[in-house]
Amino acid sequence: MCGIVGYLGPLNPKDVIVGGLKKLEYRGYDSAGVAILHDGRTKRVRAEGKLKFLEEKLAHESFNGHLGIGHTRWATHGGPSERNAHPHQVRGISLVHNGIIENYAEIRRELLARGADISSDTDTELVAHLLAEEVDRTGHLLKAVQNILDRLQGAFSIVAMWEKEPDTMVAFKDGPPLVVGLGDQQTFVVSDVQACLQYTKKFIYLEDREIVEVKGAQVQVYSSRGVPITKKVVEIDLSPESVEKQGHPHFMLKEIYEQPRAVAAAMEPHIDTRNFAVRLKNVGFNEPLPGVDSLDPLKDWENTRKILNGVERVMFIACGTSSYAAMVGKYLIETIARIPVETDIASEFRYRHPVIPPNTLVITISQSGETADTLAAIRLAKEKGALTLSICNVRHSSIDREAHGHLYMNSGPEIGVASTKAFTSTLTVLNCLSVALGRLKNAINAAEEKEFVQALLSAPSQLEVVLSYDKYFGEAANRLKLFRGFLYMGRGVSFPIAMEGALKLKELAYLHAEGYAAGEMKHGPLALIDENMAIVMIIPADQLFEKTLSNLEEARARGGKVICLSTGEHEHLRKVSEYYLPLPKAHWTVNPILSVIPLQLLSYHMACNLGYDVDQPRNLAKSVTVE
Ligand code: AGP
Repeated sequence: MCGIVGYLGPLNPKDVIVGGLKKLEYRGYDSAGVAILHDGRTKRVRAEGKLKFLEEKLAHESFNGHLGIGHTRWATHGGPSERNAHPHQVRGISLVHNGIIENYAEIRRELLARGADISSDTDTELVAHLLAEEVDRTGHLLKAVQNILDRLQGAFSIVAMWEKEPDTMVAFKDGPPLVVGLGDQQTFVVSDVQACLQYTKKFIYLEDREIVEVKGAQVQVYSSRGVPITKKVVEIDLSPESVEKQGHPHFMLKEIYEQPRAVAAAMEPHIDTRNFAVRLKNVGFNEPLPGVDSLDPLKDWENTRKILNGVERVMFIACGTSSYAAMVGKYLIETIARIPVETDIASEFRYRHPVIPPNTLVITISQSGETADTLAAIRLAKEKGALTLSICNVRHSSIDREAHGHLYMNSGPEIGVASTKAFTSTLTVLNCLSVALGRLKNAINAAEEKEFVQALLSAPSQLEVVLSYDKYFGEAANRLKLFRGFLYMGRGVSFPIAMEGALKLKELAYLHAEGYAAGEMKHGPLALIDENMAIVMIIPADQLFEKTLSNLEEARARGGKVICLSTGEHEHLRKVSEYYLPLPKAHWTVNPILSVIPLQLLSYHMACNLGYDVDQPRNLAKSVTVE
């Protein structure tokens, strides 16, 4: 995943573009570059490594043009280097690209046969060559783009400029997001609205195979066949401040501490606090997406009830942390609503020739709404005639736009590559959905609904309690880094939390950790346990406490060192644990929201102790928009 910023307007393009790339650096950070008009030519500056290295180079550069493009890269074709950094330039054409051109080998062969001088290992440069050939033929950037679009296969968002049209930027996409920011006499084309929120809140969302031409202050969108299209302008209500660190050393820590508010924001639209009932708001099944926000909530709820009443099974599809949230969703829906639930990781679902029975609701979970495998999965589910529902954090994202129905995490921008508040917000939304389904299916009565809702309403304050123990998690992290391996274990809804806790340690501290169902110990993992193995046992006071306690004793009997998360003060557990991390007493449906916090903080502190880059862990990106 990469970050793209294009700008045409009266401000200094260098400042606008670099400022925008800073907001997008979470999307990729192995190299960066800009191409900006200066004295009628396009001056390009690129640097390997993080954006700060490009800024150091740009400190000595000035530009007198008003058109420019910039890029921060997450390498796919061609390793991280200056020569592979974007923008790529061929004979006056400059362009930046997010995604993968899958037929790049065939295009490369053809270009070489035509004598093209190819200077990088990237697929992107090949597009610049194709475009240069077409502008030579047509003398028109927009026509040239229309002529090459059908040549390209794969996932791509591209912004291009041509020296001979100094007032024109052309952009097009098929897959990764590309958004047009409409300012006052100035226009932005960016990967994510955050890149230009300080200048405008009005946006046009490009759909796949659409082309936008920005000429002076005019913006026109076309179909791939060149037919002008009228697009809806969407007003975004995110404040620029919401994407800053607000005093925290890292975005991840800020987002961990935002979770009480994020969880409250996730449930707020759906909870009737007068009646302690769930009324899912503006799901908008089969409504056009931009209209979802302006639906009549009562009419929409009636429509949603009718549609959910026909649901006989649920199929979750997601990746990574979102797939662990889906696993929690399985326990919630099957226990509360008594509807069968399957969970699948998107990269498997899309290739396993899935069978989707009639009356199945396919639910995708994706913080970014742009994960390529999850996007492909929802498209496949729709092809097979399934009703689809998206739970995501980015409105108007590709997955959000594909789905029939929409639920939102509402957690605000999540910048840290390691997902935290989006996960707990998702668990909150899944709680609301499970209770709504349970009532619709008469699996729970009004009194039980009230119990679930009251439990959920107490979650934000219980999260504040868990966060207040942060210093303990910091101490525990200091001890944990001495261990060779880590086994995270839990039962029931704590099993997916064990999986998520292990993933956090892997992606932040680069240490090997495994999440396991605690009941599986005897079927193999017990052989791993000795004094070098840290066992992180998630054992809240729920109906599986005793079972999990015996698994903990099994581990201890073999010399395993146990770090224990449990409810309240438990004398025995505190005595037998290397570290005991207390959790507030909570309803079993809320325990997963609480027990993941210590695991997030443990991994955060360990990564900091090891001196790693918490917000931008090596080899990763915030949203994997390519396969
Ligand atoms: C989580 O910490 C990771 N960054 C990763 O597993 C992530 O959850 C996964 O790539 C899915 O992303 P999505 O929710 O945006 O689809």
